[in-house]
Amino acid sequence: MTVNSTLLQKLPADLAQDRLPRHVAVIMDGNGRWAKQRGLPRIMGHRRGVDALKDILRCCKDWGIQALTAYAFSTENWGRPIEEVDFLMTLFERVLRQELREMMEEDVQIRFVGNLSALPKSLQGEIERSMEQTRENRSIQFTVATNYGGRQEILQACRTIAQKVQDGLLSPEAIDEALFEHHLYTAGISDLDLMIRTSGEMRISNFLLWQVAYAELYVTDTLWPDFDRAELHRALTSYQQRDRRFGKVK
Ligand code: FPP
Repeated sequence: MTVNSTLLQKLPADLAQDRLPRHVAVIMDGNGRWAKQRGLPRIMGHRRGVDALKDILRCCKDWGIQALTAYAFSTENWGRPIEEVDFLMTLFERVLRQELREMMEEDVQIRFVGNLSALPKSLQGEIERSMEQTRENRSIQFTVATNYGGRQEILQACRTIAQKVQDGLLSPEAIDEALFEHHLYTAGISDLDLMIRTSGEMRISNFLLWQVAYAELYVTDTLWPDFDRAELHRALTSYQQRDRRFGKVK
């Protein structure tokens, strides 16, 4: 945490509490570039990325944001060098083991979403344990998208709904937005209000495709390991200046 960040324990006075996003999502891009710029191996960028994520999670909680969803590993990320994939899987597992106690103390509810069955068994075990133990925590809902793809999420919802129709449990007329959302991984979390992407790319990269429909987008050139409370403050200031019309005229 930088000196600048430690000064930001409380919600900055220029932000309106009642107009904060309820649900923020982050595409944590730029770990590799951050490391390269310093002549370090890419994995060092991921390590620092974890520190940044921990601080942003705590900050969201301190400032009263109800939900944070982070894109940790996409279905496309399997295409990275095997050493990097292995490192990331081990990193997720180690972080979960190390942080569980603190998540309990801080009242964080963690959940993992994505095709979790393809992850290493030992990681699946840690995921189950952390989700089970933090189930009743209420201060913030922290969702980690791992082996996640937005199109795959929509397809799995379609399959489940189609099966219910085939089994006679549901009529096609009953399929509306609310029912569909109930079958997405994010069921039970408030609508996505703000999606942040670091390191400058103007892409959604298959993240929360359904949920992003009316979210505000914020892209910064800052690389993820450098995304701190001051950066989040900037993103929230931008968010609060937006005129959210949801397609209507005011
Ligand atoms: C993208 O940067 C980042 C990732 C693919 C990994 C992000 C994962 C973490 C920060 C760890 C989260 C851990 C837990 C347990 C939630 P990149 O490597 O694509 O960067 P580049 O575009 O500069 O190469």
